[in-house]
Amino acid sequence: MKAMVIHAYGGPEVLRLEEIPRPEPKENEVLVRVIAAGVNPADPLIVSGKYAKEFGTHLPLIPGYDIAGVVEKTGSKITKLKVGDSVYGYVLWGGGWAEFTIATEGEVALKPKSLTFTDAASVPLAALTAWQALIDVAHLGAGQTVLIHGGSGGVGSMAIQIAKARGAKVIATASTPNQDLLKELGADLAIDYTKTKFEEMAKDVDVVLDPVGHDTLERSYAVVKKGGFIATLVSRLDQEKMEAHGIRGASIAVKPNAEELAEITKLIEAKKIKAVVTQVLPLTEAVKALQQAATHHTRGKMVLRVAEDPKS
Ligand SMILES: NC(=O)c1ccc[n+]([C@@H]2O[C@H](COP(=O)([O-])OP(=O)(O)OC[C@H]3O[C@@H](n4cnc5c(N)ncnc54)[C@H](OP(=O)(O)O)[C@@H]3O)[C@@H](O)[C@H]2O)c1
Repeated sequence: MKAMVIHAYGGPEVLRLEEIPRPEPKENEVLVRVIAAGVNPADPLIVSGKYAKEFGTHLPLIPGYDIAGVVEKTGSKITKLKVGDSVYGYVLWGGGWAEFTIATEGEVALKPKSLTFTDAASVPLAALTAWQALIDVAHLGAGQTVLIHGGSGGVGSMAIQIAKARGAKVIATASTPNQDLLKELGADLAIDYTKTKFEEMAKDVDVVLDPVGHDTLERSYAVVKKGGFIATLVSRLDQEKMEAHGIRGASIAVKPNAEELAEITKLIEAKKIKAVVTQVLPLTEAVKALQQAATHHTRGKMVLRVAEDPKS
């Protein structure tokens, strides 16, 4: 099979398109014929070797953590999936930038019928991150107000829609060209962070979702009401500042979760969540995708096309 492989950590140029043997699923795994694979800002970091110690990545490595495709083969202990099922998911150990990859039943769910494989591949990691941050950890409830930084990015665009589906009031930030997207996704108040300090418009919020860090996180403690919550995707939280403001918080580390993905599927089928794919590149242009992912200014999601999308 064809796969994008790295043999040495480094910049995007270390990616090589190679012909390698298909992986063989173990008893608790399925082999998925990949049709499309998502791109995430973590990909250039993984390729650079930043996570080698932290998460135990090792070489050679095939990136690709978001996949949509068709089950080609099942291990003997697989009970929920069968050959021919269309699936999508976040695969913890990557391998998605290839014609075939391995997944477990805990990582993939049936693909929403209303989405193409290309759109489906954009959803899992970003939507699960937003779900786990807002629902599992921050317990965002109906009627509460959430401030979502980076609302036009991969996670932010899912977070706005999940929060709205939850019945929350959404304040979201992005730069000038992305104000339209914030509104289109359902934000009640869109803030252009290049023109206005968010703290001038967002006060006493129940929850902050922070995918940006640095100064954005620093200034976020003061906009959360007493008893409120900050969920950050990119930083450690300052315990003293949280205590001073009487708030709580957590640093999020997204995990694959097929049950939660099935809940997300229901929201997609109910038209409460849509995929926001702004760029589709062939697998052979994965280097370009890594360069774009590293900018932290992607609008919605980027997807790599691995095979023709059968539109089902
Ligand atoms: N901890 C975890 O488990 C986890 C999971 C997923 C992602 N992450 C991390 O979370 C971050 C976001 O991921 P993503 O997939 O959403 O990234 P992304 O698709 O690159 O989106 C980033 C968004 O942030 C916006 N942005 C940049 N600077 C900003 C600022 N100062 N204020 C407000 N918005 C700003 C950008 O909008 P403009 O272009 O309009 O500026 C862009 O839409 C990445 O660093 C990623 O690695 C962590």
